[in-house]
Amino acid sequence: MTGSAGQGRLRLGVNIDHVATVRNARGTDYPDPVRAARLAEEAGADGITAHLREDRRHISDSDIERLMDSLTLPLNFEMAATAEMQAIALRHRPHAVCIVPERREERTTEGGLEVAREENRLAHFIAPLAEAGCRVSIFIAADPAQIEAAARIGAAVVELHTGAYCDYHLEGRLAERDAELARLRDMSAFAHALGLEVHAGHGLTYDTVAPVAALPEVMELNIGHFLVGEAIFRGLGPAIGEMRRIMDEARVA
Ligand code: PXP
Repeated sequence: MTGSAGQGRLRLGVNIDHVATVRNARGTDYPDPVRAARLAEEAGADGITAHLREDRRHISDSDIERLMDSLTLPLNFEMAATAEMQAIALRHRPHAVCIVPERREERTTEGGLEVAREENRLAHFIAPLAEAGCRVSIFIAADPAQIEAAARIGAAVVELHTGAYCDYHLEGRLAERDAELARLRDMSAFAHALGLEVHAGHGLTYDTVAPVAALPEVMELNIGHFLVGEAIFRGLGPAIGEMRRIMDEARVA
């Protein structure tokens, strides 16, 4: 999944973590995130994203195994930069590995990775993953120092964290939202100019996705929590179809 700015269709990676959250609330084997992945594929997703957290609060090791066995779409495996996760990724060799920060007590992935502070360690950490054929992506805030560091360590992709932009929108802090969107716009152009492929995600909804989808350097959006929630009301396929429609319209405009 590669490309240059403005070329081809904006890709949608559907994050299925929260199908597993609902399953795990009861300790049953349903609803099954792998079934959700198959439905997402039929509904026009270009990839499936799953985050195997250290505490296994949603996706499990066996979910990753089953996704690798049965998916025809590329899997974007989100993980913290730990030895345990590196070994799992090297065993499965998913299409993409997205390195995210992880804190046990957080509700979700709250900020981007501090690449600049850990440059040396991360460069050594991602090298074997890239050698194994995984496209390595680094989840970071829209910040020039982090983008430059991601380029220096040899990442192929940066995923820009859209959480702050979405939070400002929800809180009605529109000037701050627009400033954050301007940062995302400038930083996606900056990352692209450094040769990085640009993705974006976190917290996106029907109300917030269009301006991000319109950024020409952004090649892929990863969206999960909102889609799984919306699926309760309209079904997963139609929920994804509507997101696709809004993304495609924003891209053309
Ligand atoms: N991208 C990354 C790197 C993430 O960690 C997450 C959340 O797991 C997402 C995208 C999707 O965020 P959301 O579930 O809020 O749409």
